[in-house]
Amino acid sequence: MSDRQSEPILLPLSTRPEPYPPAVRQRLELDAKEIIARYPHPRSALLPLLHLVQSQDGYVTGTGIEFCAAQLGLTGAEVTAVATFYSMYRRTPTGDYHVGVCTNTLCAVLGGDAILADLTEHLGVAPGETTADGAVTLEHIECNAACDYAPVVMVNWEFFDNQTPESARALVDALRSGDQVRPSRGAPLCTFRETARILAGFRDERPGVLDGEAGAATLAGFEVARERGMNAPRPDAPRPDSEESR
Ligand code: FES
Repeated sequence: MSDRQSEPILLPLSTRPEPYPPAVRQRLELDAKEIIARYPHPRSALLPLLHLVQSQDGYVTGTGIEFCAAQLGLTGAEVTAVATFYSMYRRTPTGDYHVGVCTNTLCAVLGGDAILADLTEHLGVAPGETTADGAVTLEHIECNAACDYAPVVMVNWEFFDNQTPESARALVDALRSGDQVRPSRGAPLCTFRETARILAGFRDERPGVLDGEAGAATLAGFEVARERGMNAPRPDAPRPDSEESR
């Protein structure tokens, strides 16, 4: 073994994150207390607390992880393990609008891949990056169970159904212009940080937040079943392959 090979390899350790300023920490602690009180065990509040720190920072920072750990009596490693498992927790700074293009199978073949490619070119950013004005973070996302409206785009987790490259371009242009934008169902969009606060469990005060209902594509199977007089079996009915039904 050469001298060079026997030299120890030193890995730099990351520095401890800066704590929140006292006024911010005090406000977040009050919010955290309210959230934690909703659960029988403090650690059960980790998911909403991660949304809470995301509403402060725009993503889950080292400071946010330490805050959550301190509030819940967990280690930073335990909080990090959860924060890095779920894709709704962002690990890099996020713009005012997180624009997610579904590229799972059904959306992809119906145009999702084309939409993502088109937006990448139109915005001049790759998936995962944010436009220079801080307005839009582009991302590809997994299926969000709206396949009946494929291809879908989600902005701050609100659905925009049956998109095309043209409609998606118009959507991001409107977001960057500061226009009020309404998703296919529900209230007008709010910013990513405001959305994160709602996801932390605080009241959504937007007018029209409960507007919207299941559309024709979602109800198509139900309508067919109704026309044909089909009913779901009663829960206590014998299974078709059981002795009882023979
Ligand atoms: S495949 Fe896109 S919502 Fe299901």
